[in-house]
Amino acid sequence: MKKIKLKKKNISAKSSRWLQRHLNDEFVIKSKVEGYRSRSSYKLIEMEKKFNFLKNSHNILDLGCAPGGWLQVAKKFGPKSSKIVGIDLLKIEKIDDVVSIEKDIFDEDIKEIIQKNFTNKVGLLMSDMSPNSSGNKKIDHLRIISLIERVLEIAKEVLKPNGFLVSKIFQGGAQGDLIEKMKIELRDIKYFKPKASRKQSPETYLIAKKN
Ligand SMILES: C[S@@+](CC[C@H](N)C(=O)[O-])C[C@H]1O[C@@H](n2cnc3c(N)ncnc32)[C@H](O)[C@@H]1O
Repeated sequence: MKKIKLKKKNISAKSSRWLQRHLNDEFVIKSKVEGYRSRSSYKLIEMEKKFNFLKNSHNILDLGCAPGGWLQVAKKFGPKSSKIVGIDLLKIEKIDDVVSIEKDIFDEDIKEIIQKNFTNKVGLLMSDMSPNSSGNKKIDHLRIISLIERVLEIAKEVLKPNGFLVSKIFQGGAQGDLIEKMKIELRDIKYFKPKASRKQSPETYLIAKKN
């Protein structure tokens, strides 16, 4: 495939390298061709092929859903009758038959809002959230931990027993207390790094069932 080369205008060397790599990325190109909104969609597709959590999940909740790639995958691979709800700080472009809510998952009323949007408990809770980088490693680490803890808290309330949790976590992020909390709420815990997840990225995914 012919490589895209950028004309250097008002762009720093670092941004130019990032953009060049992005534009030539196999999953970015594939997502444009196949109509997915994110390269991250291919992470979920690969996980679904291996673990089959979407196939039979009737109530699907996606935390950190923007721009909507995982929602598109959920719609395609989930049961036709499945209710699908996505939440993000950012507004997303509408996807037919999918409910999207602009909200912070740390808002106090988040569990109530989720429960109002489903008639039954959630069968699959997905999270592809990452905190914005502060540039300070310690702060970023704490932000990662609190995000995962919040996902667990939400799962505790809204996910049905035996329901699936699929969540981005970060290598080195799940330690001590957090592992203990996970063991209380979850079982069959597996970790998986899809091919679409960049090798240099510390992200990996947790796939587990609720107790
Ligand atoms: C990597 S993107 C998700 C991409 C998505 N899975 C897709 O395929 O389109 C992570 C998202 O998490 C969202 N996010 C981060 N912290 C959040 C929070 N506290 N509440 C809601 N959304 C959050 C960000 O706004 C961002 O859109």
